[in-house]
Amino acid sequence: MNCVVFASGRGSNFEALCKAKRAIVRAWDLKLLVSNVPTAGAIKVAGDFQVPVVVVPHTSMTRQAHEEKILAELVGSGVDLKTVWLVLAGYMRVFTKEFLAHFYDNRLKQYRVVNIHPSLLPAFPGVDGYKQALDAGVTKTGCTVHLVIPEIDAGPVILQKEFAILKTDRLEDVERKGLALEHVAYAEALDELARNEYT
Ligand code: GRF
Repeated sequence: MNCVVFASGRGSNFEALCKAKRAIVRAWDLKLLVSNVPTAGAIKVAGDFQVPVVVVPHTSMTRQAHEEKILAELVGSGVDLKTVWLVLAGYMRVFTKEFLAHFYDNRLKQYRVVNIHPSLLPAFPGVDGYKQALDAGVTKTGCTVHLVIPEIDAGPVILQKEFAILKTDRLEDVERKGLALEHVAYAEALDELARNEYT
C-alpha cells in the first residue's frame, strides 16, 4: 500500500509514521511527502528519513490551480493515482470533490484518503480539537483516524483512541496525551487498511 503523506506543520504524526515504518516490516510504504508550507517542520522530518518531498505553496493560486499542481507533481513523482493512499497528517487545506474523485476506490466505495483528527469525532470537528474539548469541560477526549469525504472532519471512522481529561489538566497536558495516542493510532490504522479487509 503506497502512501503519500500531506502535512502543513510540525510533522510529529509524519515522524511517528516514519519511525513505525522503520521499527518493523509494514504492509504500507511512505513514498512522498507533500507540503503546502515551505517552512513546515514535516519537511525536515522527510529529510531525516529520506522520504522525497514536494512543496506546493498555495499562496496566490486558486484552489483548483493548487490541486492541479499537486496532481501534476504526484504524477511527475511516479505516483500511481489509481492505487495510492493520501495520508493527511496536519494538512490544513480542504480538498475539493473534484480532487478527491481522482482517488475514488470502486471496491471500497470511498476515497483512498485518510485523516487524523484530534477529537473523538463527531465531537469537536474543526480546528483546535483538544482545546475545544478542554473548554467544553468533557472528562474524556481522544483522536480519530477516518476516511475523508468532501465534508470536513466527517467520513467513516477507522479507529479512535480515548483518554481522560483530569480536572488539573491544562491545554499542554491534553495535547501531550492526545498526540502520544495519535502517534500510535495512525500506524495502526494504516496497518488495518493495508490488510485490505475493509468493506
Ligand atoms: C494533529 O493534532 C492532528 O490530529 C491534526 O493536526 C495536528 C498535526 O500535528 N490534524 P503534527 O503536525 O502531526 O505534529
